[in-house]
Amino acid sequence: MNKPDLCVAKNREKVDIKYINLDLNLKPVFKGKKYFLRTYGCQMNVHDSEEIKYYLEQLGFNSVDVLEDADIVVLNTCAIRENAKDKVFGYLGRCKHLKKTKKDLIICVCGCLVQQPSEVEEIIKNHKYIDIVIGTHNLSELPYKILQCSGKQEVDVYSNSDKVFENVKYSRDSKISAWINIQLGCDKFCTYCIVPFTRGRERSRKIEEILKEVKELKEKGYLEITLLGQNVNAYGKDLNLGYDFATLLEETAKIGIPRIRFVTSHPWNFTEKMIDVIAKYENIMPYIHLPIQSGSDEILKKMNRRYTISEYKKLFDSIKNKVPNVSITTDIIVGFPNETEEDFQKTLDIVNYCKFDGAYTFIFSKRVGTVASLMEDKISFEEKEKRLHKLNELVNKYSLESNQKYLNKIVEVLVIGTSDRGDNKVCGYTDTMKLVNIVGSKDLIGKIVKVKIIDAKSFSLDGEVI
Ligand code: SAH
Ligand code: SF4
Ligand code: F3S
Repeated sequence: MNKPDLCVAKNREKVDIKYINLDLNLKPVFKGKKYFLRTYGCQMNVHDSEEIKYYLEQLGFNSVDVLEDADIVVLNTCAIRENAKDKVFGYLGRCKHLKKTKKDLIICVCGCLVQQPSEVEEIIKNHKYIDIVIGTHNLSELPYKILQCSGKQEVDVYSNSDKVFENVKYSRDSKISAWINIQLGCDKFCTYCIVPFTRGRERSRKIEEILKEVKELKEKGYLEITLLGQNVNAYGKDLNLGYDFATLLEETAKIGIPRIRFVTSHPWNFTEKMIDVIAKYENIMPYIHLPIQSGSDEILKKMNRRYTISEYKKLFDSIKNKVPNVSITTDIIVGFPNETEEDFQKTLDIVNYCKFDGAYTFIFSKRVGTVASLMEDKISFEEKEKRLHKLNELVNKYSLESNQKYLNKIVEVLVIGTSDRGDNKVCGYTDTMKLVNIVGSKDLIGKIVKVKIIDAKSFSLDGEVI
């Protein structure tokens, strides 16, 4: 057993990146057996789950939607906030119960939660029914752990990684839209955030490998790709090879895939050159997720966000001026330790200034190992909830207003699937990432269609094909 490393500070050490070409040779020894996979957290985890699916399917497992039908359960976990963790342990209760009647059930927990030493200790001590615990840095070992699974708990978690795996294979969820990792980990160490500890140091993939993947996806008929990283704008900085995110974006655009997206952008690393590339290419979508976190310079400083509100505004204005019809969404945290009423008011002020197309809003959650978890905090949870409620009202008002601007307009929608808003409906996204529900048949799925917007709500639009 590889004992979890309890020294989280180690994650701050610089690493010399090693590129490893994966070449796994897996045999379908579990043919006829079934897997159940549940994913928590961000797009990175969603994409990692596509890698997990590939391994399980290569081993011969078939997917099932009902937990009780499974021979192996894999939970791909998230640790970003306390409620993400609670959901995982809640679900593990169900798995434990199932194992009482299904003795051979293999239970496997991977993802960010198990990169936290305290959680691994908890699992070793109190959750002995979990067979395999595997961290984010060695996911490609998962199939071998499954093959070796003997009923004895196996924990394999590394606190940091100097590796970037190339030639990773995925069982992609969609044949239309694909994720591409361009960078792993995060070096920003925002004081509230657990990600640098769960995902390790920032490591960029090589540009030629990324572009190869883009070309392969284009040849397979994909219409959309999303370049993924915790700070896509910092792409390449660690390599010192003379290229950056703007270079990557431009080279990707030239390959000619119809829709290119990227997420998430950190305001600190956003350059004018990047904005110019986004404005120049029609196939780079005019949509930017640009987390602001707070409207108060005091709080931003305590968060270690590395920008001031006036710098954010300057960037925001430049994007709005240069990229026609751009939509911008954000993330906001309320109730950071000792956030005053005045600080919170400044957050409302910046929302009133930016009128974001949408915002994900959160109450600060204490994460063990982060600097902010040690900060004194006199603000009550009730007060934080009140602030969140007030913020959400404002954010939703602007989401609705921005959606209403689409009324009676004709937009191009990439249809990705059936809609949950009734029969005979499909749904898809505009170039600006607005969700549109459309009356129409499944034949539209996988097509970019012209749609007239007939109704606008806070979180979606209704449209009809013209
Ligand atoms: N790399 C991205 C964010 C990844 S986490 C970025 O920097 O923008 C997604 C969002 O979760 C963050 O933007 C932040 O708003 C929120 N978040 C992260 N840690 C949190 C915490 N401890 N409590 C509450 N929200 C948090
Ligand atoms: Fe977390 Fe900050 Fe890194 Fe985003 S940039 S993942 S919020 S540490
Ligand atoms: Fe969660 Fe890990 Fe993503 S903590 S938000 S799954 S990087």
